[in-house]
Amino acid sequence: MKQLVRNVRIIGTGSYTPDTVYTNKHLETLCSTTDEWVYQNLGIRERRVAGPDQPTSDLATQAALRALENAGLKPEDIDLIIVATATPDRLAPSTACIVQDKIGAYNSVAFDLAAVCSGFLFSVSTAAQFIATGIYNTALVIGSDTFSKIIDWSRRDCVFFGDGAGAAVLTHADDGEGFLAFRLYSDGRGKWNFTIPGGGSEFPMSQENVASGKRYFQMVGRAVYETAIKVLPMAINQVLADTGLRIEDVDYMIPHQPSIQILKDTASIIGLPFDKVKTNMDKYANTSGGTIPILLDEVNRSGQLKRGDVVLFAAVGSGWTWGASIIKW
Ligand SMILES: CC(C)(COP(=O)(O)OP(=O)(O)OC[C@H]1O[C@@H](n2cnc3c(N)ncnc32)[C@H](O)[C@@H]1OP(=O)(O)O)[C@@H](O)C(=O)NCCC(=O)NCCS
Repeated sequence: MKQLVRNVRIIGTGSYTPDTVYTNKHLETLCSTTDEWVYQNLGIRERRVAGPDQPTSDLATQAALRALENAGLKPEDIDLIIVATATPDRLAPSTACIVQDKIGAYNSVAFDLAAVCSGFLFSVSTAAQFIATGIYNTALVIGSDTFSKIIDWSRRDCVFFGDGAGAAVLTHADDGEGFLAFRLYSDGRGKWNFTIPGGGSEFPMSQENVASGKRYFQMVGRAVYETAIKVLPMAINQVLADTGLRIEDVDYMIPHQPSIQILKDTASIIGLPFDKVKTNMDKYANTSGGTIPILLDEVNRSGQLKRGDVVLFAAVGSGWTWGASIIKW
């Protein structure tokens, strides 16, 4: 694998989740589901839901400001903003430009990246290339989604998702620390297994498309599960091989969190004790672009991460998209 020109590390994290909580018990009143099934199969007890006046950029802005504060930087210090989202405020402009304006980071270039649940991992990898090559020094990478806006709460698959945002500030680092490897993959043959059909150029907003439910997400749950437990171990084993590290060297895995069963099966396949796999999906469900950075922020602020710890990131999402990365904290 090609060596980075400059190493890249994370120097600050932040996150934000809306105040409104929808418990599984509450969802029992909206659709045909049970708290017991959702907790047993998915590991979710509750999720956060944004208000009608809270677009994705609002969550992203709060997470970004907290990450900047944690890094000891000001908005004008940022050269690059990438927002990973599948639920942008609008089709145009990018949510990243809206966030740039909300935080006043006018020295930055800002754009969105679409890789759905793999979006934060793809965005961190992208930002790191700009820093590694010396084009930019400091990047703000945000994963933010409000899936509540594309959920049909009368359907039982409403249980999977929640709203939230997380952010990380990246800058250059000394040799031997920071990101050690990235591996990203896509396979468009799986494109319809998770899709949000409406609102784009194929099914524009129209009375007919709204009436037929095209604004809601569609998911083939079984295909997500089977793909995830195949591709996540493959990507993880590849970044381990890239770095020459063994699974025993990993201190923590901070994964995208689609379901607890997917994480348990993945950990078992790669031989990682499950107590090294961090999760908080019992509180937040799957926040798509937000899952990794919200969890990273929680682990970081709890003081569990020590300089030099080996942390494994892995994600799988619609597209298909997937990947893994290893960082020496
Ligand atoms: C969802 C999943 C647990 C269920 O597996 P499955 O057997 O393929 O799913 P099915 O829809 O056929 O459901 C099987 C049974 O589970 C139960 N079930 C499924 N969804 C349920 C829900 N939301 N609430 C309660 N019970 C549910 C029902 O008993 C159902 O049987 P029925 O269809 O006869 O009523 C599994 O596919 C999975 O975990 N997929 C991953 C999805 C994911 O992580 N998505 C998020 C990222 S995109």
